[in-house]
Amino acid sequence: MKNKYGLPYFVLLFSLLLPNGFINARPSGKKTKLEFFQPGQSWPDQDGNHIQAHGGGILKIKKNYFWYGEQRGKGLDPKFRYVSCYSSKDLLNWNFRGNVVKMLPPDSLTAGWILERPKVFYNAGTKKYVMYFHLDDKGYKVAQVGIAISDKPDGDFKFVRRFRPLGHESRDIGQFIDDDGTAYLVFEDRPYGFRIARLSKDYMDVEKEMTLVKAHMEGGAIVHYQGLYYSIGSALTGWNANPNKYATAPTLEGPWTEFRDIAPPETKTFGSQSTMLIKVTGSRKTTVIFMGDIWRPKTQYDSRYLWMPLELGDGKLSLQEPKPWKLNVKTGESSMVESQITEPASNKK
Ligand code: DGJ
Repeated sequence: MKNKYGLPYFVLLFSLLLPNGFINARPSGKKTKLEFFQPGQSWPDQDGNHIQAHGGGILKIKKNYFWYGEQRGKGLDPKFRYVSCYSSKDLLNWNFRGNVVKMLPPDSLTAGWILERPKVFYNAGTKKYVMYFHLDDKGYKVAQVGIAISDKPDGDFKFVRRFRPLGHESRDIGQFIDDDGTAYLVFEDRPYGFRIARLSKDYMDVEKEMTLVKAHMEGGAIVHYQGLYYSIGSALTGWNANPNKYATAPTLEGPWTEFRDIAPPETKTFGSQSTMLIKVTGSRKTTVIFMGDIWRPKTQYDSRYLWMPLELGDGKLSLQEPKPWKLNVKTGESSMVESQITEPASNKK
């Protein structure tokens, strides 16, 4: 049985059954320490607050991961748009580093303006952290990217400019860094499909189109895995979930295969929408994580996340039913923790 977000009830039940303090183990003054991922559940940061990094992206610098996303917490000044930043060494326990963007509408934009899906690249040449985001007016007609830069990963980021990449409409954006370090922007170009384009040397511009995929998809995400590029996107259904799909190609230029469902279509991607694919290459294995948002448009501060390791290889990709799972970022191994939970302790021999 599923709840309205398409998640199995046992996921919810299981979190209620856990001994108090196991997930949010936080005797006063101590930091929250999570043991495993719980897709779809509230995800506390180390201070115990639900993570606010929606439509986000992950940047890895040495052994540190940074998670940037839309800050949609309660009590924010509605004049501003905010981007949050969190850091972690294990992709599970996140330390809130602050709102690294707090921005008034640039020039002609007015109330209700949009800043969504921030993604940060680090440019080793200029030593700048370069943030791209979707910038728009209330009606989503402006369709631009904005760029903001910082000397440090945790800001402050200063707004630089806004534009349409290569002159095209750009709404949802995605970030892809290839194994050779080359940085790409994925952007939805409503009349045509979505484009994958290489950034300029200093990352301050979108320089060269690699491909136009003639599929109307947003939430675009890419991973390069065992010699193939896998691209995931969602249909255009506003905040409502839909069956996300994937295609593969031997090079970013294509040719791209037809798009196929990443999960049983009736689950609508288990109620989520893609935002990024995270490749964790460890000493023993590589795990690719589907990073998705479970939007709650009326209570955005309570929008959730669905992160699950994907099954992929040989041109096939699938997102399994969300379950609690563990990750070892050192070895790259992931495992489900369901069996440890569903079996009552008294049944153990
Ligand atoms: C779908 C996009 O993926 C989201 O980022 C957001 O722009 C919503 N549409 C708005 O309806």
